[in-house]
Amino acid sequence: MTDNNKIPYKIYLEESERPKQWYNVRADMKNKPAPLLNPGTLKPMTAEELNHVFCDELVKQELDDTTAYFDIPQEIQDFYKMYRPSPLVRAYCLEKALDTPAKIYYKFEGNNTSGSHKLNSAIAQAYYAKKQGLKGVTTETGAGQWGTALSMACAYLGLDCRVYMVKCSYEQKPFRREVMRTYGANVTPSPSESTQVGRKILAEHPGTSGSLGCAISEAVEDATTHEGYRYVLGSVLSQVLLHQSVIGLETKAALDKYGITPDIIIGCAGGGSNLGGLISPFMGEKLKGEKDYRIIAVEPASCPSLTRGKYAYDFCDTGMVCPLAKMYTLGSGFIPSPNHAGGLRYHGMSSVLSQLYDDGLMEAVSVEQTSVFEAATKFARIEGILPAPESSHAIKVAMDEALKCKETGEAKTIVFGLTGTGYFDMVAYGKYNDGEMSDYIPTDEDLAVGFAGLPKVD
Ligand SMILES: Cc1ncc(COP(=O)(O)O)c(C=O)c1O
Repeated sequence: MTDNNKIPYKIYLEESERPKQWYNVRADMKNKPAPLLNPGTLKPMTAEELNHVFCDELVKQELDDTTAYFDIPQEIQDFYKMYRPSPLVRAYCLEKALDTPAKIYYKFEGNNTSGSHKLNSAIAQAYYAKKQGLKGVTTETGAGQWGTALSMACAYLGLDCRVYMVKCSYEQKPFRREVMRTYGANVTPSPSESTQVGRKILAEHPGTSGSLGCAISEAVEDATTHEGYRYVLGSVLSQVLLHQSVIGLETKAALDKYGITPDIIIGCAGGGSNLGGLISPFMGEKLKGEKDYRIIAVEPASCPSLTRGKYAYDFCDTGMVCPLAKMYTLGSGFIPSPNHAGGLRYHGMSSVLSQLYDDGLMEAVSVEQTSVFEAATKFARIEGILPAPESSHAIKVAMDEALKCKETGEAKTIVFGLTGTGYFDMVAYGKYNDGEMSDYIPTDEDLAVGFAGLPKVD
């Protein structure tokens, strides 16, 4: 049933059609992502070592690259019911405005109070922490979306939540900070004076506006120096991609319901969790040779880890306290310019996506922020949703692909992830509206500084 008239503007799944299991794409990868390494011994991290930092059940998920499906615990399913299934929207208005034969769909994850897809993993991670009998969790947040999601999940389950928020976002987004505090979280701008690693980073980079890498180091130190606390991460790790597979599973179920097969799947890539989640079931089919899809990761030109990074072992954080991950990276010492898509300012990329990219199973492009805000503004006016700057990277490339279809006359089906709302990004929109936004693209010399700090691993 591919007749346009029969496809509604929004495809909602019934409650009974929601996924009951997460899908672990690693199980179907021939070339598995490289293991996390202990930075001291350079040997693969054991569960015992990881258990000091992360919750036990999450460590099991992290290390498991053979089990294809994990049951979603009933308590998490009940929470998901509060805001899922999320709609898959046929962007009829956008298609008309672009005058393209392409058929455009977007999976909208911004329909919950936290405002983004991050809640899908936040509730899972908070649930396992609670089940383990912990007092609380610590984390970092860039744009504030992850911190908000975790604050909501912790409030729901009665867990303490300590958030290190990248300083430039803390200053640019006071309202997001207050949402987190309203949900009971303790929010600290990072780098801060309250951790050893924060003090060290401040001494080395006075006046720094911070980065996700710095905030991770602080949150890990906080968790490992306080009894009853563990660190949770909103992206990058394979367990997070597993939880986010709910996005792709719902998307695929909705498309299958109407017999739609996408040609191109697009998502923004910060640490890789939404893109990894969106593409998982499609990539699974591609890996098994059942179907083929073009998959495109979109990153900011100011922080181009896939398009200009090196595929190497690196620290996940600036303070070098985390395990080493093999990933496309700009070097853990690379501090990106204060791009307004705070959630995409991360030096590395999920090991799963890095391996898939290295194997030629997906593409990556980088875009400049002024062109992203131009696309975001157009989208808001045409489709009505005010998108997050991160999500708008995917919008920009989806529009570009739809315009290529206009030139060639091809009616390709494009699906993209609309990960969140931009209500707390109005300082950024204000800069764009006032013509004060500029684009910063690091030079090869800038990148060389980050690469020089890569650890030597054979
Ligand atoms: C709305 C939104 N989209 C996308 C991202 C990027 O993260 P990831 O690559 O893990 O999906 C973020 C990160 O904070 C975000 O807030």
